[in-house]
Amino acid sequence: MTKLISKPLELPAFVTPNRVFMAPMTRMRAAQPGDVPTDLMVDYYTQRAGAGLIVTEGSQISPEGKGYADTPGIHSDAQVAGWRKVTDAVHAAGGRISLQLWHVGRLTHETLQGGQPGVSASAIDFDGTVTLKHADGERYTAQSPTPRALEVSEIPRLIEDYRRATRNAREAGFDMVEIHAANGYLLQQFMSVSSNHRDDRYGGSLQNRARLPLEVVDALTDEWDAAHVGIRLSPMIKFGGLDDADGMEMGLYMAAALHERGVGYLHLCEPDWAEGPALDSAFRSGLRNAFSGIIIGAGNYTVAKADEMIAEGFIDAAAFGRPFIANPDLPRRLFEELPLAEVDFDTVYGSDVAGYPQGYTDYPTAD
Ligand SMILES: Cc1cc2nc3c(=O)[nH]c(=O)nc-3n(C[C@H](O)[C@H](O)[C@H](O)COP(=O)(O)O)c2cc1C
Repeated sequence: MTKLISKPLELPAFVTPNRVFMAPMTRMRAAQPGDVPTDLMVDYYTQRAGAGLIVTEGSQISPEGKGYADTPGIHSDAQVAGWRKVTDAVHAAGGRISLQLWHVGRLTHETLQGGQPGVSASAIDFDGTVTLKHADGERYTAQSPTPRALEVSEIPRLIEDYRRATRNAREAGFDMVEIHAANGYLLQQFMSVSSNHRDDRYGGSLQNRARLPLEVVDALTDEWDAAHVGIRLSPMIKFGGLDDADGMEMGLYMAAALHERGVGYLHLCEPDWAEGPALDSAFRSGLRNAFSGIIIGAGNYTVAKADEMIAEGFIDAAAFGRPFIANPDLPRRLFEELPLAEVDFDTVYGSDVAGYPQGYTDYPTAD
């Protein structure tokens, strides 16, 4: 029987030849100094160009938006030039690629912020760690410090950082951008009651907590257009000290607001991959009723789960994360029911030498 995930999909901005998307995955291999995409990253993404759509690893919109060692940015000319090589090669291989725009908020460390803590919705002490590297390249995890609450007067500058990142992404040849409003990073820190105790127009009611992410959406749809702006949400995820008490309600509210704005896609990072609950059918159908555009599901997907969710009308495409690390030709393997290789988790987050290929570009194809 033909698998539904093997069928083409019409997004507002372009058509994808299949519905097996590559989920965004931080791999911590950008060149230093400068957080610049490398030629090895060109190879890595090009090997995976068979995906219906690649969503890149989170790429920080500004130095303030960085929270882990060796993650790539999208705020400098050198970074744009590095990404340009990636997009050119992915396009030459027949692929499509969306850049994930990342601001980590409080999930950072003072060593990445000139001795300062990160910024967030509120100055709330929390339990969250980030992965850093010693000067010799050895990895370690560190507790994030209590963040500083962003002033209302800083919000226009923050939104301009998102705009500049989007201009840069266009210049670098990306097919779309994806706003990272998931996994407990800055925009979700504003959305969640546990991390947002503000009493101004960015805090308190659900509408106020959703204001910043929606202002970012509005700025970026103005900067490019709605079709080229996607967004990732993870209602109810437990990550980075988050406890999203009204996460489901927020997810449905955001879905309705995004429907009105006609964004290119809504990418659902399902919470069960990171200690959150499994989403139930009531939430999935609520989401579908609120948002009639393209919904991408991600998190512990198999062909069977993806086809079932597509058949139910809950999602239009499935993004695969971990399986894409070890299987560069994942769509073909899924369509032809070939065996899948296992991920070596020791090498997922890079190594001591920038550009180190082990566990990155050396996973073979099925052939
Ligand atoms: C190594 C790794 C890095 C990740 N980095 C990101 C990221 O940069 N941005 C993001 O939104 N999600 C990130 N995720 C979450 C994935 O996009 C995906 O939602 C998750 O892995 C569940 O999908 P899977 O079960 O197919 O792996 C990461 C996951 C892994 C395993």
